[in-house]
Amino acid sequence: MKKRPNLLITGGAGYIGSHSVKEAKNFGFNPIVYDNLSMGHAWAVQDAVLVKGDLADRAKLIQTFKRYKPAAVMHFASHISVGESVSDPQKYYRDNLGNAMNLFSIMLEQKTKYFVLSSTAAVYGDPVKVPMPENHPKNPVNPYGDSKYILERILTAYDQAYGLKSTFLRYFNASGADASGTLGEAHQPESHLIPLILDAAAGLRKEITVFGTDYPTPDGTCIRDYIHVTDLAAAHFLALKRMMKTGQSDFFNLGTGKGYSVQEVIRMTEKVTGCKVPLKIGTRRAGDPPRLVAQSKKAQKVLGWKPKYSSLENILKTAWEWHQRWHGGLKQRKK
Ligand SMILES: NC(=O)c1ccc[n+]([C@@H]2O[C@H](COP(=O)([O-])OP(=O)(O)OC[C@H]3O[C@@H](n4cnc5c(N)ncnc54)[C@H](O)[C@@H]3O)[C@@H](O)[C@H]2O)c1
Repeated sequence: MKKRPNLLITGGAGYIGSHSVKEAKNFGFNPIVYDNLSMGHAWAVQDAVLVKGDLADRAKLIQTFKRYKPAAVMHFASHISVGESVSDPQKYYRDNLGNAMNLFSIMLEQKTKYFVLSSTAAVYGDPVKVPMPENHPKNPVNPYGDSKYILERILTAYDQAYGLKSTFLRYFNASGADASGTLGEAHQPESHLIPLILDAAAGLRKEITVFGTDYPTPDGTCIRDYIHVTDLAAAHFLALKRMMKTGQSDFFNLGTGKGYSVQEVIRMTEKVTGCKVPLKIGTRRAGDPPRLVAQSKKAQKVLGWKPKYSSLENILKTAWEWHQRWHGGLKQRKK
């Protein structure tokens, strides 16, 4: 039987990375996780190889490349908080850029030719057109989004100069959890809306604050495009396989093209959980656009990708099942 090619997955112990590790074998790859476990969890890599290391540790990275000879790299490891990037930009530019540059130089030395970047809708900045197509102007409004946009430009230059092929996947709001109930969002601290709403539904926090009810949207609250993490994971492999087949770099939005308001997410949470979500109405937060929705036709057309798990109801059902397991004792047992 033909051996599966090794795939280096940085940040594979984190939320989106671990769901991708789980999908890797279904798409014919052998996942090798490289993660410093600063935010991720060793249990989340399940039966994949885990190399515990920091991307700043060049010697360890070189050793890992020499040992496993990955055919490609999927790069999830980064700092991910927009708010923190505004208060501590150095951390974001230094690590998100510096660590990726380390990876690129080692990939060139070791002749690993294919790279998939976890990019973000934050590269676009404030929307001038919604739904947002891939050619929407790029004006990131915070250092997090800017660091990803800089990486996209570096990778474009590396393709032209060195033939390093890359695909940028610009995610909208990653959400939901694996259907098995064994993986899910376990950020500590958590800053994403759905797990925070679920905390409020479960009585783990007093309430959820709705930041602004006077936006120009039907119910006055912000609208976002929620994409299930299992659909996101599948898109990574479709994109990688296509890149390896065509030898072409590319970029795609990953969203459903449909947006839900904060109020709609709360109402669906109440339906799915059967629990009341205690609310507090707050004022608008700086930098929150009213509507962020992907135009997602390109990934569907070019990659043949079709979100299967991304109805709001399924996102909340899977996230709630995971939330109950995680907070119902799993969190303590996994420590
Ligand atoms: N969650 C979202 O909605 C979303 C949206 C757009 C883009 N993204 C991008 O997707 C990627 C994954 O996001 P996530 O939500 O899974 O984050 P996460 O924090 O759950 O996962 C990141 C992983 O990277 C590891 N890591 C961080 N720095 C490292 C380093 N220096 N060396 C080795 N490992 C390191 C962490 O331990 C963690 O396991 C990020 O690049 C993020 O910017 C996420």
